Amino acid sequence: MKSLSGRMAVVTGGARGIGQAIALAFARAGADVAVLDLRREDAERTVAQIRDLGGRGFAVKANVGDEQSINAAIESAVSALGRIDILVNNAGIESASYVADMPTAMWDDMMLINLRSVFLCSRAVLPAMQEQRSGRIINISSQLAHKGAKELAHYAAAKAGVIGFTRSLAYEVANQGITVNAICPGPVDTELFRSLPETFRVAKLAELPIGRAASVDEIAPAAVLLASDGGSYFVGATLNPNGGDYMI
Ligand SMILES: NC(=O)c1ccc[n+]([C@@H]2O[C@H](COP(=O)([O-])OP(=O)(O)OC[C@H]3O[C@@H](n4cnc5c(N)ncnc54)[C@H](O)[C@@H]3O)[C@@H](O)[C@H]2O)c1
Repeated sequence: MKSLSGRMAVVTGGARGIGQAIALAFARAGADVAVLDLRREDAERTVAQIRDLGGRGFAVKANVGDEQSINAAIESAVSALGRIDILVNNAGIESASYVADMPTAMWDDMMLINLRSVFLCSRAVLPAMQEQRSGRIINISSQLAHKGAKELAHYAAAKAGVIGFTRSLAYEVANQGITVNAICPGPVDTELFRSLPETFRVAKLAELPIGRAASVDEIAPAAVLLASDGGSYFVGATLNPNGGDYMI
């Protein structure tokens, strides 16, 4: 018996990067996985890999910035795979600007995609999880929520918001069999990290005790732990696979 056998997971932003690694790790652990992403073709490629691992997968194109798109996507994922046990709020974007120069639209997009979506996707799955009196919600925050960074005030603020949301929702639903937790990765070698200014990346890696970015496969195990029976006593926690960037 694998640790996630019989469970159905939705992973937002599961078409590539950290989300893809989580989707594949869940499939290896026996879960069925719906990959919800803007990038339909990449999502379908991830689902093909899930099927190669012997799991059931489902690709659904959706924009986590859009409430109707989220609700329709969660509904179609649940009807394709039968139920929902695990939601990973992973989809996210990155941009960089000093606050003095930051366009309001850059701030608003960050809040829409990296924070508001976590509320909307969580709200969309809660009725089913509350009815079955079990569920796992795992939110991907960032170590920058704790530490902050020049040119990333909007990102750090959104990710700190994710932690506050995680703790508050955890309070609301823990006694209904639903756990809500966050993962705060350090720098991870993905398209998103590579899109940051080179000066930021070089400085960040130089200050890291471990001296290198993580691979996506060094982050996914934290999600498997939180999703599995072994993770049942984590409530409102933040797991910090961050290479020592911020030691808490
Ligand atoms: N890479 C890092 O260094 C790092 C560190 C800490 C936290 N994170 C967080 O991890 C998560 C994943 O990041 P990543 O590095 O894998 O990024 P990535 O860019 O490689 O992947 C992000 C995925 O999210 C999808 N996505 C983006 N906007 C979307 C939208 N509006 N609707 C649906 N899907 C959308 C993209 O299509 C992509 O597949 C993000 O929340 C990010 O903030 C990343």
